[in-house]
Amino acid sequence: MALEIRKVTDGVGSEVIGLDPSKEFDDETRRQLREAFFERGALVFRGLDIDYDYQDKLCRMLIGDDGPSAAERRDNFFVSNKEENGAAPYGRLLFHADMMWAEEPFEVLSLYATKVEPGSASTSVTNGVYACEQLPDDLRRQIEPLHAVQASGQAYNRGGEDLINPKREQERSHVTPIIHRHRRTGKPVLYVSQQNTREIVEIPGDDGEKMLQTLFDQLYAPRHVYEHQWRDGDLLVLDNLAVQHSRGYVALDGPTRTLRKVIAPIPKQKYERPTFDRT
Ligand SMILES: [Fe+2]
Repeated sequence: MALEIRKVTDGVGSEVIGLDPSKEFDDETRRQLREAFFERGALVFRGLDIDYDYQDKLCRMLIGDDGPSAAERRDNFFVSNKEENGAAPYGRLLFHADMMWAEEPFEVLSLYATKVEPGSASTSVTNGVYACEQLPDDLRRQIEPLHAVQASGQAYNRGGEDLINPKREQERSHVTPIIHRHRRTGKPVLYVSQQNTREIVEIPGDDGEKMLQTLFDQLYAPRHVYEHQWRDGDLLVLDNLAVQHSRGYVALDGPTRTLRKVIAPIPKQKYERPTFDRT
């Protein structure tokens, strides 16, 4: 399978052209996909016709995961404003990586558009590895020894009325260095997010928040962000340890937006799924 791989922005994302889901991955395909995934943080495929098992197989192949598959666990998960039990069915989502608040977030996050009508909200992606490389030296030296509290839930006064508020019985949090090492590549990642970083451990209060806002300016500068406009059959595969994602406003009565979500590996610890009020 000869793949063509093109950068979508300087900092993040490669579009992959020529993947044939009817064929097994050969060594060269595996090498190309893994290299693009870890170098660029996100793979973008257009117009694929794939089922749940293929999506799962692709995610697992990228990290050599031979543990239980999402399919085996019947983990049918849709981000949707129309499917019954669809996750995050409405509202806007600030930038975050999934499970940033856990000790071991999963590594690969994939979203496949099973049905997306025109006018649906886009998904934006930014790369914490690239943002870290681009930090001015003095700022980087300043934050090198610092830690952040990453918490579940939504937005610490950084929000707006249009954000969705996931509810969990138990709020969770985890402290990480602000410059975090990627578990697999060892690369430094600027690891704070609008949605999940509650505060800087060593600088609580307004001064810490000011510092976080400076780092968000770096992470979310429009020149660093890839914005994906969904069409049916699109697949986005994200390195969840390196990149963050966000999305615009979704309305329950707006255009259908159904994305099949498959992750790898399946976290060893089972966490409760958040619920969302449908008011
Ligand atoms: Fe997410």
